[in-house]
Amino acid sequence: MRILVLGSGAREHAILLALKREDSDHELFAAPGNAGIAADAAIVAGLDANDPAAVTAFADDESIDLVIIGPEAPLVAGVADTLRERGIPVFGPGKAAAQLEGSKAFAKRIMDAAGVPTGRATRATTRAEVEAALDAYGAPHVVKADGLAAGKGVIVTDDRAAALAHADAYLPSGAVLVEEFLSGPEVSLFFVSDGDTVRALSPAQDFKRAYDGDAGPNTGGMGAYSPLPWLGDRFGSEQAFVAEVTRTVAEPVIRQLDAEGTPFIGLLYAGLILTAQGVKVIEFNARFGDPETQVVLPRLTSPLSRLLMAAASGHLEDEPAPTFADSAAVTVVLASEGYPESPVTGRVITGTDAAASTPGVHLAHAATAAGPDDGTLVATGGRVLNVVATGDTFAEVRERAYTAIERIELAGSHYRRDIAARVAGV
Ligand code: AMP
Ligand code: GLY
Repeated sequence: MRILVLGSGAREHAILLALKREDSDHELFAAPGNAGIAADAAIVAGLDANDPAAVTAFADDESIDLVIIGPEAPLVAGVADTLRERGIPVFGPGKAAAQLEGSKAFAKRIMDAAGVPTGRATRATTRAEVEAALDAYGAPHVVKADGLAAGKGVIVTDDRAAALAHADAYLPSGAVLVEEFLSGPEVSLFFVSDGDTVRALSPAQDFKRAYDGDAGPNTGGMGAYSPLPWLGDRFGSEQAFVAEVTRTVAEPVIRQLDAEGTPFIGLLYAGLILTAQGVKVIEFNARFGDPETQVVLPRLTSPLSRLLMAAASGHLEDEPAPTFADSAAVTVVLASEGYPESPVTGRVITGTDAAASTPGVHLAHAATAAGPDDGTLVATGGRVLNVVATGDTFAEVRERAYTAIERIELAGSHYRRDIAARVAGV
């Protein structure tokens, strides 16, 4: 198949690596891509992934069989709508359904209408409304920007002044959401949908805070692991958990969006908290999660292209459920100095070949570009690359991932040392 993947993150690299692994004869294209992706796909120079007309013209001219949209920006820009109008199979929801991620208020309305369990929330447009809501819910306070903020628009704090300051930063550009604090372990569960049928992938957990012990600010994600063996203690088995969330969360949401005339064709990412009162949704995304994708896809044993093509073309019902290896996967994110507040970019990265030659390890690149000299790499953003390790046990994959990441040099960089520590019994 000729497949175009839009995006430039480690998630897109992970998608391309899964496609390449399942069938080395695929012709893979990517835009805008990065230095790591360039080794695994043909980068389409100059193609603006957020330009619906340009992407559609390219896909048409190049007889692309399937377009996979990685990040949220092209979804919100309506790239999927334009491709679909032209009859080109695309994995990713249209602009209207992508509001599930783009607007937290829209997501709350859909959840209410579909009867999906979630925390209470108040949309506030003035400081007085924010203050009233903070007092109504009490501490810990949760305040979110009502729009795309790349995982950084959220504050969870006991400090009322800090919660107010966060609201002040986002109020001028619209509204904020003040939420009830939900307590419990977090799980990310991905569903593939063709707008009607739903198929779950294997659960993962990501580490959102910048530093060890869940200290520091929220980030786009500093690491992840999959599967989550401890789900069995609570739900009997991972399958029982997945079946419950499919029934109580994914299916009702997909039905609701369909009933509203905005079918969701793509990846429904459910961010869940397992509270004492049951599983509740904290957020939806309309795309594969990053860094969770980097640990979920290496465990997929059925072909990814078939699954995504079946969703894109409305035949998911006829497609067998995806299958996963009974293995462990972990990813650790290497971040630039100053991430997430003000990442230092432009610095040289070395040691990636040595890291990638560690047994059971591969790299998924995020913010990398070719450096000035042949074969050199530079960091171009906050989250630079992911070391991904797979193996039989979490102890083994942690050992592999940390051995590999220590081989990489990037001045001032940092990474968390406690990814999957608890599940490995460390
Ligand atoms: P979000 O961007 O909505 O995923 O929020 C980022 C992170 O903030 C989540 O992964 C949680 O760790 C935390 N968070 C968000 N909303 C809540 C909530 N209502 N209660 C507790 N923690 C939350
Ligand atoms: N893992 C968080 C996200 O993809 O938004």
